[in-house]
Amino acid sequence: MKFLYIEPDEDIRDIYAMKLEADFSAEIISASNEKEAHQLYQNEHGRPDLVVVLIDAGAASDYFQACYNFFNKNHKIPFFIIHDGESLSKLKGIESFATDHLGNRALKKPIQADIFRKTIMECLSSNNNNLNWIKNAEHGHSKVKINNFLKFNTLPCDAFIRLGDTKFVKLINADDMYTTEVIRKYMQKNVEHLYVHQEDYPALANIGIQTLISLYDRKTETTSLQQLNLEALENIHHAIHEIGLTKEAAELTKKTIISSAGLVKRVRSIADLLNKMKSSGSYIYDHSMKMTYICTAIAKHTEWGSDSTIFKLSLSCTMHDMTLENDDLARIEILTDPRLQKFEPALIEAFKNHPQDAAKLIKDSKEFPPDVDFIVAQHHERPDGSGFPRGLMKLRIAPLSCVFILAHEFVNRIEEMGGVYNQENRDRVYQALSQEMYTLGNFKKPFAGLRSAFNLAPKEDKADIEANKS
Ligand SMILES: [Fe+2]
Ligand SMILES: [Fe+2]
Repeated sequence: MKFLYIEPDEDIRDIYAMKLEADFSAEIISASNEKEAHQLYQNEHGRPDLVVVLIDAGAASDYFQACYNFFNKNHKIPFFIIHDGESLSKLKGIESFATDHLGNRALKKPIQADIFRKTIMECLSSNNNNLNWIKNAEHGHSKVKINNFLKFNTLPCDAFIRLGDTKFVKLINADDMYTTEVIRKYMQKNVEHLYVHQEDYPALANIGIQTLISLYDRKTETTSLQQLNLEALENIHHAIHEIGLTKEAAELTKKTIISSAGLVKRVRSIADLLNKMKSSGSYIYDHSMKMTYICTAIAKHTEWGSDSTIFKLSLSCTMHDMTLENDDLARIEILTDPRLQKFEPALIEAFKNHPQDAAKLIKDSKEFPPDVDFIVAQHHERPDGSGFPRGLMKLRIAPLSCVFILAHEFVNRIEEMGGVYNQENRDRVYQALSQEMYTLGNFKKPFAGLRSAFNLAPKEDKADIEANKS
């Protein structure tokens, strides 16, 4: 999450920047005037999610209108104007402020903290970027899976149990010690979620993420490392949907990737690693993890086996479906799949856009290397041109994207066969892929990598496989 914040007074700027940073875990790009803001955007900082402007009477510079047109009208970024009551009517060029962008908001000073926060959330949720600041909050409370509370023994905020539609009863006080037995007792009673005040959610999510980061720094066994990886993916997924890809969520992503790539390097058989993987119960996390293992294994058997390239591929595996929330939707591969029509139009739209949305998420994050977003943007392209969003063909899809797409086909086809990576299933899928366009164009080298990584029978041995089976 990135905010561009414009305010001429340095002291006020520092106070609001700190507040925005703490409340939203956002990266704040501060500028003293509109012209500087424009330059910062162009030079180094990339697209912000929101422009916050403080304007007192007569304080807006001559450049305000150009700045407003540039960000709001051309780049569709919402504006949040804080004003003194008089200055707004004096501003030129914002006559259609309320309708120029759904997220545009103006508030008169002084502003109460909760209104400030709520208004910014409204600006962001209108931004059509798949972040659900408001959607997941019910009656001012954010829902948190109960097992998350097992990780802590104190909380930075109060936690509640929900007893009715609007009735929430406090279970844990902020900063009070509690034992995991309390949580387990409710888990046994089939309580699935606890609730925190909506404004407390970012702080709690952050602490959860930091706890996982610290767990990575201790030595762990392979099995629990796999569980930790899956738990980390779940926390990253929730962060992306509810508070954005924060610095901490990005750091946890890196730790998870390094840990899973390390696992692949250590195991003797990648098929064994896949077969022994315990399910997290969520398709998106299991699938992303398997993709990381398979892409790493393929890359190791190609010219793309350097640590930095494996990191890029793994990052793509982790992020490619993260903007989707629904497991059944994430299982869909092509736009002509009839299952797609069963979803609401907004979800279908989210599915159509998810390659670009996830690519944007990576591109906008300063924490990740550049030139990774293209892999995610192309992850639903197919060698015969039947994919989306661009319908690229085998020679137009970037080679690293081909590694990803091939791994994706491989994992999904084995999944359809029951998810067991035995020699027979692996050979069958490999033979099927070799009959399609996966051996051609930019897929040729990844295909050879897949064969070595999984010890697959060469193409011409198909007759032998059939003979062995009978
Ligand atoms: Fe996808
Ligand atoms: Fe996928």
